Amino acid sequence: MLDQFKKSKKYFKKTPNLENYEKTYREFSWKNVSESELTWFDNGKVNAAYNAIDRHLDSPRKNKIALYYEGPNGEQEKYTFEEMSQKSNKFGNFLKALGVKRGDRVFIFLPRNPYLYIAFLGILKIGAIAGTLFSAFQEQALYDRLENSGAKVLITDKEFAVRVEKIRHKLPNLKHLVLIDDESSLKEINDSSAELHIDRMNPEDYAFMLYTSGTTGKPKGVVHRHLAILSEHITAKYVLDFHEEDTYWCTADPGWVTGIAYEILGSWSNGVASVVYGGRFDASKWYEILEKYKVSVWYTAPTAVRMLMAQGIDLVRKYNLSSLRHILSVGEPLNPEAIRWGLQAFGLPFHDTWWQTETGAIVIANYPCLDIKIGSMGKPFPGITAGIVDDQGKELPPGQEGNIALKPGWPSMMKTIWRRPEKYKSYFLNDWYISGDRGLKDKDGYFWFIGRADDVIKTSGERVGPFEVESALVEHPSVVEAGVIGKPDSLRGEIIKAFVVLTKKYQDKVQDKNYSDQLKQELSLQVRKHLAGHAYPREIEFMDKLPKTRSGKIMRRILKAKEMGLPIGDTSTLEEF
Ligand code: PRX
Repeated sequence: MLDQFKKSKKYFKKTPNLENYEKTYREFSWKNVSESELTWFDNGKVNAAYNAIDRHLDSPRKNKIALYYEGPNGEQEKYTFEEMSQKSNKFGNFLKALGVKRGDRVFIFLPRNPYLYIAFLGILKIGAIAGTLFSAFQEQALYDRLENSGAKVLITDKEFAVRVEKIRHKLPNLKHLVLIDDESSLKEINDSSAELHIDRMNPEDYAFMLYTSGTTGKPKGVVHRHLAILSEHITAKYVLDFHEEDTYWCTADPGWVTGIAYEILGSWSNGVASVVYGGRFDASKWYEILEKYKVSVWYTAPTAVRMLMAQGIDLVRKYNLSSLRHILSVGEPLNPEAIRWGLQAFGLPFHDTWWQTETGAIVIANYPCLDIKIGSMGKPFPGITAGIVDDQGKELPPGQEGNIALKPGWPSMMKTIWRRPEKYKSYFLNDWYISGDRGLKDKDGYFWFIGRADDVIKTSGERVGPFEVESALVEHPSVVEAGVIGKPDSLRGEIIKAFVVLTKKYQDKVQDKNYSDQLKQELSLQVRKHLAGHAYPREIEFMDKLPKTRSGKIMRRILKAKEMGLPIGDTSTLEEF
C-alpha cells in the first residue's frame, strides 16, 4: 500500500513559492513578512480589505480579473480588481450613509454571488466588523447569531429575508435590512460615490467574526483582527502556492472561515484570479467549471472528493483538466483512498491542510516542496509552533497521542470570543492554545489527526454542535430529551444521529412502524426548519432513557460507544443506563 508520496519533477509545473521548508521554518519571522508582504499606511495602520484589493491598483493587476462568477443557472459575470475596489468603495459609502460606524457589526446573509464579496470588503473598508451567515441557516441559527452579535445591519436578498422577517421583532439592535435585489437599494448603492477614504485601522482592531460550534451551549462568535490577513496572505502564498497566472477555485462558502480566509482575504491579497460558483454540488458541473475556467489551483473538502469519487473515474475522463497543477483539501480527515483516487483522476495528490475557525488560517499543512505521508496533515507552517500536549498542557514526545496544541501569538489567532472573555480564556493551558482535536506527531515532525477531544460533529466538513441539534429536537411536543452524536459515515465523514426519548403518549404511538417512521421524518424536518438545512439528524432512534451523569448531563460518549459497538468504558459516574 502506498503510504508515502514522493514528489518527482512531473508534479511541478511551477517552482513552488516555498522551495525549502526547513530553511524557511528556521529563519521565518512574522515581523519580517509583515514588512515585506503587507502594505501599511503611515503610523503602523493597516486595513485587510485594502491589502486584498486596492493595493493592486498601482500595478498591472489593476485590470486583471479578480472574480469570475458563475451562478446556479449558468449566468456569468466577471470583475477586475479595479471594479472590485470601486464597487466595495460604493458599498462602504452606502453603509456610512445608513449610519454605520467603526466597530458596528454588519452581517451578510446571501447565497454565493458577487455582492457577498463586495459587501464584505466594503464593511472592512469602513472599519465595521463583518459577520457572515451560511445560506442554509434557519430562524434559530440566524437569531442566535444576530442577537449575540448585536448586528446593526443585515445584507440579504428578498428570498432569504423571509427567514429573517420572522425573528426581526426580537432583534432590537438590527436597524436595517438591506435587500441587494431590491431596485431602490441597488440604486442607492450604485449611486454612492466610488471615492472612499479607507479606514486606517490598528492591526488589533476587529475585522470580521464567525460563529462556530462547541460541545455545549450556543454557537460562539470567533472574532478576528485586521492583522489576520498577514497569516492568510503568507499561507496562501506558500501552501496554496499562488503564481501570477493561476486561476483558483475554492469551493467553500464564506459563511465558513475557509471562504473568508481563502476566497476573499488571503487569495486576493496575492492577486490571484478566483472562480466563485454559486450553484449546488454536481460532479459534472464541477468538472465543467474546472475545465471552462482552466482552474490551476483547487481548494476543496474531503466530502466533496468522496462525492466525486462516487461518480466514477469515467466521468472525469470526459473533461480536459490539464490546467490543474495543485490540489488541496480542508475541514475533515482526508482519507488515503481519496488521495489515491486524486492521483488516478487528476494525476495529482490532494494536499491536506489543518486549521480551524479559531486559528483563522492554515497552521499545519502539506507543502508542494515536501513529500506527503499519506493520511498525515503535514507539518506546522513557518512561524507556528505546534505540539502534542497532555491534559495538563505538558508536551508529549513523538508517537504519543494527545491534544493538538499551538503556541499562541500568530497573526490570525482569534482575537476574542464575542462578549465571552471567559470562553476565550478556556482555550489556553500552560501557554498553549488547545485546539480540541487529538492527534500525534511522528519522529519526522508530521502531524496525524485522531479525532475530536469533545463531542463536536463534523458532517460534510461542517461543524455542528450537538447541543444545538438537541435543543431543536426538544422543541417538538413529542420529545422529552435528546442526545446527539456524530456517527462515522463513509461519504460525509460523520452523519448526525439523534437518540430521542418520547413522552408517554408518543411512546405508545410509535409502536406502529408507519407512525414511527413518520415521526422520525417530522423530527428531522423540525431541525432543518429551525436550525439549518444541513445540520439535521439523518438517523433517529427512539430510546426509553438516555445515559446520564449523576448531575443529569447526557453522556454522548456512551451513546457513541454503544452505536459503534465499542466498550462503554468507565460508567461509575453514571446515574442510570
Ligand atoms: O476537527 C478539526 C476539523 O475541523 C475542525 C475545525 O472546523 P472549523 O472551525 O469549521 O474549520 C474548518 C475549516 C478550517 C478541526 O478542529 N479539521 C479541519 N481540518 C482538518 C480537520 N480534521 C482532520 N483533518 C483536517 N485536515
